[in-house]
Amino acid sequence: MTLRLNVIIASTRPGRVGPVFGKWFDNFARQHGRFDPVLVDLADFNLPVYDEPRHPRLAQYEHEHTKAWAASVKSADAFVLVTPEYNYFAAPSLVNALNFVLSEWHYKPAGFLSYGGVSGGLRAVQSAKPLLTSLKIMPIPEGVPIFSYQQHLDADGVFKPTEIIEKSATTMLDELHRWAEALKPLRGAA
Ligand SMILES: Cc1cc2nc3c(=O)[nH]c(=O)nc-3n(C[C@H](O)[C@H](O)[C@H](O)COP(=O)(O)O)c2cc1C
Repeated sequence: MTLRLNVIIASTRPGRVGPVFGKWFDNFARQHGRFDPVLVDLADFNLPVYDEPRHPRLAQYEHEHTKAWAASVKSADAFVLVTPEYNYFAAPSLVNALNFVLSEWHYKPAGFLSYGGVSGGLRAVQSAKPLLTSLKIMPIPEGVPIFSYQQHLDADGVFKPTEIIEKSATTMLDELHRWAEALKPLRGAA
């Protein structure tokens, strides 16, 4: 069965650029052909700051928004986190969404498509990795950092990837697929 890849748009603010990169990557992953990609927009879930009364390890979710988010995370075999950098750190919307559920993340690999100025969002990526490992997500080293992202958008705001960006996306997807296959027995046992 084809493994499912959730491509998660992590920024939620009005006017965000995140969907431009999320949609591009979702298409790219479809053409890559090894995953069944699904574009997931975090903004659609309207998650408030963590508001469940019980620890997520119990998976006794009270709120509809949590149940919907848990179902989305559970459905995936792997993730690509499409994320900006806010103040040299991971976006709070991403940190919050990661914290909301627990076992649904387990034994699944994740790669990052990050974007920003000179950093290409890489500081956000590095800051998020310890959190991912606490959730038993395997953050893979291969990633797609987009530096000075405005320079890669045309006058209509359409993303024009360079050859290097496309190559890094292919490499990340290849590696993500290897990890997602290799972790299958752990996901099955959980
Ligand atoms: C609160 C805030 C903090 C930011 N901090 C950074 C930063 O540390 N590094 C960076 O490269 N860009 C930073 N930016 C600029 C973002 O790269 C830019 O606004 C980008 O569009 C954010 O992604 P989004 O539109 O999907 O939210 C920041 C933007 C905001 C709103």
